[in-house]
Amino acid sequence: MGPGPINADPRVLRAMSAQLVGQYDPAMTGYMNETMELYRQVFKTRNRQTLLVDGTSRAGIEAAIVSLVSPGDRVLVPIFGRFGHLLREIAERAGAEVHVIEKEWGQVFTEAEIASALRSVQPKLLAVVHGDTSTTVAQPLEGLGELCAKHGVLFYTDVTASLGGNPFDTDALGLDAVTAGLQKCLGGPSGSAPATFSPRAVEVIDSRKSIEAGIASSADEVHATRIRSNYLDLAMIFDYWGEKRLNHHTEATSMLYGARECARLLVEEGVDAAVERHRVHGAAMLAGVQGLGLATFGDLSHKMNNVVAVVIPDGVNGDAVRGELLEDFGIEIGTSFGPLHGKVWRIGTMGYNARKDAVLTTLAALETVLRRQGAAVVPGGGVDAAYQAYASSVVDTSADEGSAA
Ligand SMILES: Cc1ncc(COP(=O)(O)O)c(C=O)c1O
Repeated sequence: MGPGPINADPRVLRAMSAQLVGQYDPAMTGYMNETMELYRQVFKTRNRQTLLVDGTSRAGIEAAIVSLVSPGDRVLVPIFGRFGHLLREIAERAGAEVHVIEKEWGQVFTEAEIASALRSVQPKLLAVVHGDTSTTVAQPLEGLGELCAKHGVLFYTDVTASLGGNPFDTDALGLDAVTAGLQKCLGGPSGSAPATFSPRAVEVIDSRKSIEAGIASSADEVHATRIRSNYLDLAMIFDYWGEKRLNHHTEATSMLYGARECARLLVEEGVDAAVERHRVHGAAMLAGVQGLGLATFGDLSHKMNNVVAVVIPDGVNGDAVRGELLEDFGIEIGTSFGPLHGKVWRIGTMGYNARKDAVLTTLAALETVLRRQGAAVVPGGGVDAAYQAYASSVVDTSADEGSAA
């Protein structure tokens, strides 16, 4: 019940245990095409270039940035948590001239603040995290796509923590590049980064294309702005996933099976229904921790559905609580980074763990452990408040009960 990774859905684990097939086997290329189509539905996009980057979420981030940005290009990064700092670092390493605006952790930017920075910096790329797991809040992206289009700026977001659990629509938001991971609301393991790129982004990336000498049919000139990574060169990855099937890396077959199953689960449930499930269970967890008398951190009006930051009460040893929850109840909750380290726990309700039984069990266990640690909590207040939240929710959660594996 941490901020991710979380328990994988058993269906994803089963899919990953299937036998390997060669990467040009028609079954495999069929799976690749199917995976592209499934993720178009998950990302809500018509982008042809919707595929998997092999590696954890930051491989997707790095692929997007290193492929879109040439050394010297200006990049604007609004930072409101740890992962904004990561975008900044990756853009710097790609040789970009990076400009940042910063917000106190737990808060988000107004559209006007980003618009004003965009006008003054005039970047090639606006790179912004959607849901920053480190602070549990999500940056509203509405309006930024129109602004970027008007100023000829490419618009990228990292939805690792938010996709599948919070409202998100790539095309409606006017995004050019989006990258994600499996280990949060998608209910899979880390190790594959689903990503999607608009035709405008593809044009920029393909203009930097060069083909590896060992597979080119004739001597291919090396482009002056060749992408500075081979493994994460999206132009080559597009050709690998496209009709040419031009050889690049050896596809991580088991991860592809897992990523495909994550998307199948979401599409079967309905992406909007999955978001609603995260809203319901996230609201119950929030009500529960408040019902125990605990304070929360961050702007609740922008809180992600799938994670809540809980202030560690004075005099309570946060690590001891986490340790006892894990040892005695088999429940993991998260610690936190940077300025929040030692101040808040992060409790997730995401993917396979966005379930009523998981929420109620966690609240009951947390109450017990907190009492044993000498904290003043409202007896029964957590579970009662969660039940009330479920009662006021219009969604039927009965199907969740008893489904824990
Ligand atoms: C918003 C966000 N971006 C990027 C990452 C990095 O992901 P990974 O550890 O899979 O590379 C995380 C991980 O928690 C995240 O929450």
